[in-house]
Amino acid sequence: MQENPRKVFLVGLTTNQGNLDYELEELANLAKANNLEPVETFTQKLERPNPSTYFGKGKVEELGEAVKTYDVDMIVVNDELTPSQIRNLEKTTDATVVDRTGLILEIFAQRAQTKVAKLQVQLARLQYQLPRLRKSMSISLDQQTGTGGAGFTSRGSGETKLEQSRQRITSQMVHVRQELADLDKSENTRSMQRHANNLPNVALVGYTNAGKSTLMNRLLMRFGVGADNDDSKQVFEKDMLFATLNTTVRQLTLPDKRQFLLSDTVGFVSKLPHNLVAAFKSTLQEAANADLILHVVDVSDEHYKAMMETTEKTLTEIGVTGKPVITVYNKADRTELHYPDISGDNVITLSALDTNSQDALIDLIVKHIFNDSEVVTLHIPFDKGNVVAQLAAKHKFIEEQYDETGSWLTIELSEVERNLFQQYITKEKSMNS
Ligand code: GTP
Repeated sequence: MQENPRKVFLVGLTTNQGNLDYELEELANLAKANNLEPVETFTQKLERPNPSTYFGKGKVEELGEAVKTYDVDMIVVNDELTPSQIRNLEKTTDATVVDRTGLILEIFAQRAQTKVAKLQVQLARLQYQLPRLRKSMSISLDQQTGTGGAGFTSRGSGETKLEQSRQRITSQMVHVRQELADLDKSENTRSMQRHANNLPNVALVGYTNAGKSTLMNRLLMRFGVGADNDDSKQVFEKDMLFATLNTTVRQLTLPDKRQFLLSDTVGFVSKLPHNLVAAFKSTLQEAANADLILHVVDVSDEHYKAMMETTEKTLTEIGVTGKPVITVYNKADRTELHYPDISGDNVITLSALDTNSQDALIDLIVKHIFNDSEVVTLHIPFDKGNVVAQLAAKHKFIEEQYDETGSWLTIELSEVERNLFQQYITKEKSMNS
């Protein structure tokens, strides 16, 4: 059973960059996802954070007073703090201080399900913790993902113990990196196998909670391979931040038998910690390898534009640039917007829950990924029955005839497939034409 939420203050700076209102709302959601209850928000306008206490002197004192008055013992800060800023703030306010990075890492640690995700989060946390070893980390640090809380029992302990903890963390980092590299090799092999399949690869990306998993599940229910009643093929979908931390790739088969791969991956949030992005880089490779990106946006959220910017920035950071993108304005059923609605080649407004919307999205995807398709006629000798079977598995024949020399199949093939089956392509349209 979940304990009562712990009361916290949220604090943030209005600088010339960013949108503080949106960031604070997001911070509140991150806090709630961590079973914390924001009771009050403190902001200050500063050009840049005070290097030793984040807020200016007067504001820190005000915060300290409020901590006593409200009986709150934790402060959540909207930016990543230096170890000394955390230390000084804790000393002056007599409250535990958590920064945005610590909060996000904590949520990721709780959500990580697969071995790779667990290791990735563990690595990011170790990197974060190393320079902060003196601090008592605030939330559930005993539940370290396998680190045994290294270093956090060292509060008040001597330098030797601190040094031992540092060494332990460093060697754990080496170990985790090695494990990840080994796993990465086998994942790369799987990814190569998928590409060897020659199926186009479509990746869902977007802000956390935008509806990526929902969209994937709805499409899988209809077009997944044998997925009609197979719950195990569904991906985790929940109204919470970062429900999905691993990448899932599934094969979809359309009624005309054309196939493509769809992948769902970790959602983004603003100021995603750098070491976390680095740690998740391999998980995000599926997006980097995609032929088409579906950028899913929760258009019912008033901050959707800022969320789109966040996603675009993160994509650039992980090196996903120059790919064709369809912007999918999702959750239109919660707005006054008309849906499904397509504008141009690259924008669709829809509701993941609505069948017409799913059809419209599929049409748009097909237009993008099969746009190099051409109708050709193949002549396949009878002793190459396996080739006919291979084609039949992925395509609906437009025309199908047989004579004593073999099969004549008229069929729509992509450029990759035309190269693959080049030897069977005949100039004649079909044997009767
Ligand atoms: P992360 O895993 O955090 O990245 O989230 P996600 O983008 O995969 O979001 P998810 O599919 O888990 O959906 C988040 C919440 O939004 C769930 O409660 C869904 O039921 C809900 N949702 C998704 N799409 C729609 C939609 O079109 N309309 C409505 N009303 N709700 C939706």
